[in-house]
Amino acid sequence: MSKLDSLVASTRQTLELIAREYTPAVFASSLAAEDMVLTDLILKAKLPIGIFSLETGRLHKETLAMLDRVKDHYGYDIALYRPQPEAVEQYVAQNGLNAFYDSVDMRKECCRIRKVEPLGRALAGNKAWITGQRRAQSNTRGSLQVHEDDPGHLMDKFNPLADWSEEDVWEYLRANDVPTNALHDQGFPSIGCEPCTRAIQPGEDVRAGRWWWENPESKECGLHVVDGKLIRIKSVAA
Ligand code: ADX
Ligand code: SF4
Repeated sequence: MSKLDSLVASTRQTLELIAREYTPAVFASSLAAEDMVLTDLILKAKLPIGIFSLETGRLHKETLAMLDRVKDHYGYDIALYRPQPEAVEQYVAQNGLNAFYDSVDMRKECCRIRKVEPLGRALAGNKAWITGQRRAQSNTRGSLQVHEDDPGHLMDKFNPLADWSEEDVWEYLRANDVPTNALHDQGFPSIGCEPCTRAIQPGEDVRAGRWWWENPESKECGLHVVDGKLIRIKSVAA
């Protein structure tokens, strides 16, 4: 068995375990490369796992175009969760449209309004949620496990691609003809909101283009941290 085949087999097992023992469960997709691997595995196996995206209002047009591409390819409508309009209006009225460049606190407040609060609504009522995070993506993810506890959302959290490398992800996407975000061909290995993501130079860390004006330690948006700390690790299930 090739390395990719064995990664795919264990990832399928994790997803099947979630579908069997953690229903209802949902998968949070940013529509970037890792998340398209999981989308492909979930939809082709017709697993009872819902897929949603946090539509922050600041995504690239290429990312939004992925919603139609997923619909065309798989016949599946990704559910969208948007920020509360009043919260966005208040932040913009008080601080300006791009206040996230001013300080880490301002940036985290924007992420809280546009991502973290809608995530809470998307996760409500579920037993587990799934992400496309990988251990090798950054120094903040070095201890990431496939199965974690998420005490902030009072549920289990799965990162089925924790062990995958960037090369594994792209080998899978090419071999299975999976639709991918056009920005990946323009130097964006990691994609977030448009004003907070830029292309990287050869040799740079894959997340170097995210909040590039900040220190590496602060580069998480709050989807994967609790009270400013990395989420407590529980166990490896699969
Ligand atoms: S993050 O800091 O934005 O969370 P990254 O882009 O590396 O980092 O995403 C990690 C994982 O968080 C994704 O694989 C996905 O599961 C989830 N995620 C990130 N952004 C979104 C989004 N806009 N909608 C849904 N899930 C997301
Ligand atoms: Fe706001 Fe940037 Fe966070 Fe998007 S990534 S929610 S624009 S601070």
